[in-house]
Amino acid sequence: MNASAPAKVILLGEHAVVYEQPAIAVPVSSLRAHAAAAAAPAGSGLTVIARDLNQTLPINVDSAVVENALALAARLALRELNLPAPDMTITVTSDIPLASGLGSGAAVSAALMRALAEALGASLPNERLNELVYEVEKLHHGWPSGIDNTVIVYEQPILYQRNRPIETIRIGAPFHLLIGDTGKGALTRIAVGDVRKLVQQAPNRYQPVIDSIGQLVREARRAIEAGDAQALGPLLIQNHALLQTLTVSSPELDCLVDAALSAGALGAKLSGGGRGGNMIALVTPSTARAVRQALMRAGAARVFETTIA
Ligand code: MEV
Repeated sequence: MNASAPAKVILLGEHAVVYEQPAIAVPVSSLRAHAAAAAAPAGSGLTVIARDLNQTLPINVDSAVVENALALAARLALRELNLPAPDMTITVTSDIPLASGLGSGAAVSAALMRALAEALGASLPNERLNELVYEVEKLHHGWPSGIDNTVIVYEQPILYQRNRPIETIRIGAPFHLLIGDTGKGALTRIAVGDVRKLVQQAPNRYQPVIDSIGQLVREARRAIEAGDAQALGPLLIQNHALLQTLTVSSPELDCLVDAALSAGALGAKLSGGGRGGNMIALVTPSTARAVRQALMRAGAARVFETTIA
């Protein structure tokens, strides 16, 4: 039994979304986490194998120790389904770079829980799956907004705002994005914690930055629904500048953003937690090649391409 879940990119609104501002995220269906369930010998119990991480995890459903995200995901799914641990091995693999702002943690959890439910012949609707993946996300960083699990579980472009119903976004015309990886992993938890300190220590300075990001997101939604890439580009650039003010960019991210813009991208910004990880560049079919080359020359470890349609 095989299951999978996609990567994601945040187009605009990361960090501000933690403070109840809206953010826009899209799935990257070409980059995926996979989970394959296979029967194991009687009495062997449930084991999760994460080859990329070199981990073999025997799952104890009754354990209260929350030491590992994959073990927690398996336990939460079994408890939700109200089933005992089967004799089964679930092997998890992922094309999504780790700690890079592309949602690898949420995608792996979602794929694992889906494979387990399917192998047990049980139903795990997206609404419940989303809540369970959110529980696991709390391990990755203490105060997740919920945007990563939501876009990954539903695999649709969304406008997400905490404590509001999820809104799917209609894409007026396809947009072409390049995703440039700095090759430098960064922990979302640390960036989110640092922004939190700034907002607590100097709310008069930083709350307006958060509010301005929310305003850009609302404008971006209109541009996306109108299929207006020319209008969307400058909004990405402004969002990057506001994220710099929140101290979550890095020299590597700024270098890739500058390179993309110099090579003709309509807009570019960091995407996700920042401090490393990935940036996005909005391109057209005619500028994609030059921007990709510029990103590689500026030090990108790799460049992915995706169309939002
Ligand atoms: C991480 O992909 C996005 C952040 O806004 C954190 C969150 O929303 O949980 C930085």
